[in-house]
Amino acid sequence: MMAVLQRGHEEMGESMDREVVMDVQGLVKTYGDFVAVNGVDFQVHKGEVFGLLGPNGAGKSTLIGMLTCVLAPTKGKATLMGFDLASRQEDIKKVVGLVPQDLALYQTLSARDNLAFFGALHGLKGGRLKERIKDVLNVARLEEWADRPVKTYSGGMKRRLNLAIGLLHEPAILFLDEPTVGVDPQSRNHIFESIRQLIEKGLTVFYTTHYMEEAQSLCHRVGIFDRGQLVALDTPKNLIQNVQSRTLEVGVLVLPPGVLEETRALSTVEQVLFEENILYITAADVPTAAVHVLSLLKERQVSVTSVNTPEVNLETVFLKYTGKTLRD
Ligand SMILES: Nc1ncnc2c1ncn2[C@@H]1O[C@H](COP(=O)(O)OP(=O)(O)OP(=O)(O)O)[C@@H](O)[C@H]1O
Ligand SMILES: [Mg+2]
Repeated sequence: MMAVLQRGHEEMGESMDREVVMDVQGLVKTYGDFVAVNGVDFQVHKGEVFGLLGPNGAGKSTLIGMLTCVLAPTKGKATLMGFDLASRQEDIKKVVGLVPQDLALYQTLSARDNLAFFGALHGLKGGRLKERIKDVLNVARLEEWADRPVKTYSGGMKRRLNLAIGLLHEPAILFLDEPTVGVDPQSRNHIFESIRQLIEKGLTVFYTTHYMEEAQSLCHRVGIFDRGQLVALDTPKNLIQNVQSRTLEVGVLVLPPGVLEETRALSTVEQVLFEENILYITAADVPTAAVHVLSLLKERQVSVTSVNTPEVNLETVFLKYTGKTLRD
């Protein structure tokens, strides 16, 4: 399933000539002296899954709160579907859907009755309301359970109902705030599958998570978010490549005199340190440098005991930009 979503990410991430559906400029939210969101700028394009990857307390929900007209920004500007956040809140509420981090459901009511209630809040009624309920129950794969009370649902089913509610009024931009926390793998897959189908129909998704695997496989672009600030923003692939270590580590049994100098003289090698039988090599193009270094060592009959390139994933990227892990 995740592999299916991965397809086409590169074209998406790199073709930035798509329509801008969300434009955020210098958004700030303070609570007294505490700055929860500290001047955030970014744009989101139509049909994009935009991920915000950040640890607990980073300010993800606060940012979503401002963009969905739940919280008033302290400073800054934003437009959503061309509507100004400061002056067009009623229009924005019609075009954005929110799947909040905390479940907001009536436990004693069925999924269908919950949907009817929230649909009415959006001004849906009659045949149109029925049609929308049918559609979102299908998207959330809850048809079979639609008439049972929510209190009998698993955590994952409740999350799916939350998603269905967010989709009732057919928003153009859907905000999903950590939608898979406490969700069983099957419901997680349902949620990912639903997102995939929805973006094919042109929905734009803003997705917060602190699971790097989700950000990496689901999102076209990922913002690394920490202490209220966006510290990096790019496709997962580019984020990883930019941080990919320029270091190659080659372990040797013994290094005969002169070989260190010869290694340093290789055109693809920038720097070499030799410590405790390991050559720490810095190179712009690590694979090519590796070929050159290893063939030199072979010519000089040096026994190589190990070859390493430090592994980089989004967790490493996160660590590099913030100095801490996602689960701190
Ligand atoms: N109403 C409030 N008053 C004071 N501080 C608040 C309020 N709401 C949030 N905060 C603080 O703002 C910071 C950001 O909170 P927020 O909920 O936006 O983070 P988050 O990234 O969504 O975290 P999580 O992953 O835990 O959901 C936190 O330190 C939080 O304690
Ligand atoms: Mg949150």
